[in-house]
Amino acid sequence: MRPEETMNFNRPPNPELTLGAKRLDYFGDYIFSRLSKQKAKIEKETGEKVLDFGAGNPDFPPSEKLIDKLSEFIHEKDAHYYPGYKAIPEFRDGIIHWYEKRFSVHLEENELMPLLGAKNAIAYLPLAFLNQGDEVLRPDPGYQGYDGPILIADGNVALYNLNEANNFKINFNSLKRSITPKTRFIYFNAPSNPTAATTDINEMKQLVDLVNSVNQQKKTREKKLFIVSDFAYADITFDNYQAPSILEIPGAKKVAIELQSMSKTCSLAGYRIGYAVGNSEILARLSQIKNQYDSGLTKPLQKMAAHALTNFDKDWQKKMISEYQSRSQKIKKYFEKIELTGKEPKASLYRWLKIPDNFKNSEDFAQKLLNEKRILVTPGTAFGKSSACQNHVRVSICVDISKIDNYDWNL
Ligand SMILES: Cc1ncc(COP(=O)(O)O)c(C=O)c1O
Repeated sequence: MRPEETMNFNRPPNPELTLGAKRLDYFGDYIFSRLSKQKAKIEKETGEKVLDFGAGNPDFPPSEKLIDKLSEFIHEKDAHYYPGYKAIPEFRDGIIHWYEKRFSVHLEENELMPLLGAKNAIAYLPLAFLNQGDEVLRPDPGYQGYDGPILIADGNVALYNLNEANNFKINFNSLKRSITPKTRFIYFNAPSNPTAATTDINEMKQLVDLVNSVNQQKKTREKKLFIVSDFAYADITFDNYQAPSILEIPGAKKVAIELQSMSKTCSLAGYRIGYAVGNSEILARLSQIKNQYDSGLTKPLQKMAAHALTNFDKDWQKKMISEYQSRSQKIKKYFEKIELTGKEPKASLYRWLKIPDNFKNSEDFAQKLLNEKRILVTPGTAFGKSSACQNHVRVSICVDISKIDNYDWNL
């Protein structure tokens, strides 16, 4: 698939632009920026607020205990030094402790690295692993943030379909057919943005087995395939559901890394803290590139993350989950009034809802809701090309819904 054939990146070169590199032409008028411009216009014209279910920006305040700790760490005498590229001992031990306790997975020191958020790895993985024309497979519907970095690295985005009939789980026959000699890695994301679908040990085992069997058929010098498990929503789970880590699968470390984010787990999105774990060689290559671009994760932030992982504030987490869940239930009730329905999510910050049959597609539906009702949702088309993207919208639960009653919910 060439860049111009991939979603969102079909803008022709603009000859009038006298600044900027050619690669900027890959990025079309991003759906989120389009929606936010329209939102601003409507608010200006009507003088009234739009009820915005668009972004998944965790708004629940972080644990105060954690922020108190951060202010202690900021005052330590070495806080202002360059932090170094590897995890400082406290963060290393915190990650090891967390994986041991939460997933019964043992990690060695070279099987982990700090990140400035999961997106930090998503930005650099393609630069570390793709040559021109190489491919990355990502789920459709799936997180659109994977695409830009792949294109910047002269790679191609290949999509693997997830569909509703299969509960948005992988169809392995179809995924197998999508793997080519040019496929370098496969993104796997569960709990999923945008569908909120979760996974189980069986699905992940099949994925690990598939990648292992593809690699076994490769010749000695051929590039190996691997999995990037994006586990950003690992700890936003409901009703006692516990999301499994791909590293729980025996042999997964041979073919997988996993991205973790404190953005959702600890509601620290603005602080930019995450980490990657898993195959040490993949992490070493990723570090080689990343070290060219940034100088590591601020020491006080590493210490705060270490503290969170070793003294996890369960009371705080319970409150956060219960707040998200009660909002989610209320949101469900209101969206049912306009005939939007979907499965009860076991995890994530989103509801993935099917639009009524009489609408052409999710983009038309989202436009109508915004223009006529001052309610903003993200059309499924922002996440892929599959039929599920055409007839679903994503509704974020990171929203102040205190004024939800004030909106007209009749279509
Ligand atoms: C699926 C997915 N992966 C990664 C990220 C980025 O997470 P972070 O804030 O850790 O960079 C997001 C953010 O919304 C996401 O939805």
